[in-house]
Amino acid sequence: MAKVYMLTETSPFMMSFVIVTDKDNCIVIDGGRREDMPLLKKYVGKRKIKAWFLTHAHNDHIDGFVYEMGKDGGADFDIENVYYNFVDYDALKKKTGMPDREYFLAELEEMMPAFNAVKDKFKDKARIISQGDTLYIDELKINVLFSLHDGLYSNLMNDSSLVFKVTGKKKSVLFLGDLGPEDGDVLLRESGDKLKADVVQMAHHGHMDVSMDVYAAIGAKECLWCAPIWLYEEKAVPDWMTEEWINKDKKRMRMYGTAVTRRRMEILGATKHYVTGYGTQELEI
Ligand SMILES: [Fe+2]
Repeated sequence: MAKVYMLTETSPFMMSFVIVTDKDNCIVIDGGRREDMPLLKKYVGKRKIKAWFLTHAHNDHIDGFVYEMGKDGGADFDIENVYYNFVDYDALKKKTGMPDREYFLAELEEMMPAFNAVKDKFKDKARIISQGDTLYIDELKINVLFSLHDGLYSNLMNDSSLVFKVTGKKKSVLFLGDLGPEDGDVLLRESGDKLKADVVQMAHHGHMDVSMDVYAAIGAKECLWCAPIWLYEEKAVPDWMTEEWINKDKKRMRMYGTAVTRRRMEILGATKHYVTGYGTQELEI
């Protein structure tokens, strides 16, 4: 049986998973920031990384990867393939007409220039994957259920998150990255019949995330929260979620704090919750 490790945070609310297969190979998902690299290296050990998935270009997900590549081409890791599907920086930089262009450009600048600057260091291992693709890694089957859709601009980076299901001998886990309400609806429309899974990684750290309908279609009874305690215990409408913030970008709708998501999961019958704020979590799939 494969083991899934959801690593606890060294840097705030990051996302980092290590999956160890039956054949003692590794899959890494995101990895968090550079401060999170020592813990990641401890869990990967000397194993081959058959696949390193990068869900989207935000620093709490890929800064560590970019840092390691820039430092020495990722020499501390034995990487076979790097899977991702990121936005086109040069094309989007010229785009206009979105509701909040200032925010759009800030999103674009957060990690993309740094990522593009190290791309050459792993060009032989880079694989662009898309919705509909299937991968087989040792005993695990991986179905890609959502990838970049051009035109989702209200939350550019989160809305470009890769979504994929990892199916093991015992259980399946759906990884939602940082998907928000808008692209969650697209996921449901386009891949709704493929979402069923035993375990779900809660979208966007559990808040401002996909709708209850998406979680209902997944039907998971176990939830993975990449969230520190303060975020896991966040109110339904946090103080920072003001009317002004919601209305600045006219599409920033249906966003709530973690309390709403936790209530939804309770209604849907989820019984087990793994939270990074309580330490590194492990489960078998
Ligand atoms: Fe994130």
